[in-house]
Amino acid sequence: MKQVTKLALAAVVAGMAVNAAAYEQGDWILRAGAVTVAPDEDSDSIVLPTAPPTVLPGVSVDNDTQLSIIPVYMVTDNWAIEVLAATPFEHDITVDGVGIPAGSIKHLPPTVSMQWYPRGGQKGWQPYVGAGVNYTFIFDEKVDPALAGALNGLLGATEADLSLDDSFGLAAQVGVDIPLSDNWAINAAVWYIDIDTTAKIRTDVGTVAFDVDIDPWVYNVGIAYRF
Ligand code: NI
Repeated sequence: MKQVTKLALAAVVAGMAVNAAAYEQGDWILRAGAVTVAPDEDSDSIVLPTAPPTVLPGVSVDNDTQLSIIPVYMVTDNWAIEVLAATPFEHDITVDGVGIPAGSIKHLPPTVSMQWYPRGGQKGWQPYVGAGVNYTFIFDEKVDPALAGALNGLLGATEADLSLDDSFGLAAQVGVDIPLSDNWAINAAVWYIDIDTTAKIRTDVGTVAFDVDIDPWVYNVGIAYRF
């Protein structure tokens, strides 16, 4: 065989391998990687019952990255159900204006989406869009000593405790699997999730509540394996 023909054949075989990831009805796809929750938060102000009231502008919530595990089931060649799961996220919370650390929270934001694959049943890149619902469990809320100290100074509080309500809301996403072989692909995806909660700071001299819309952008980068 001529060298040129061999090269051409090798290119065709490589091309077939790269293009061999046609998603079809009944396929399971497991995605895993690094998933970042980047809050785009909007917080109500915090009104402390001093005389006159002390008004703090609200809180900021920082980013966190965890390990994602994202199973997908192809219901048809073009439609799938996906579950976004991850190891628990932990976010630090800061009081705006004064810039003191308020505390931290952990959460799990499982999100179930119905997805549409316009190129389902075809080989090559698999872009998708999805829409779904999210339930965010918020737990292990902790008050930072700096906030506890401020509440002691302003209110005379000797105890402080933070809690945030769980959230149920809608989610939207776009993503793509870029095939590496018949079964393996690189995945990149982004979600926008509506996570709205009410935060309560309970002290021995009263409770202060304020709404926080966390509304994060969520980014996943990882690998996908088709079964
Ligand atoms: Ni919201």
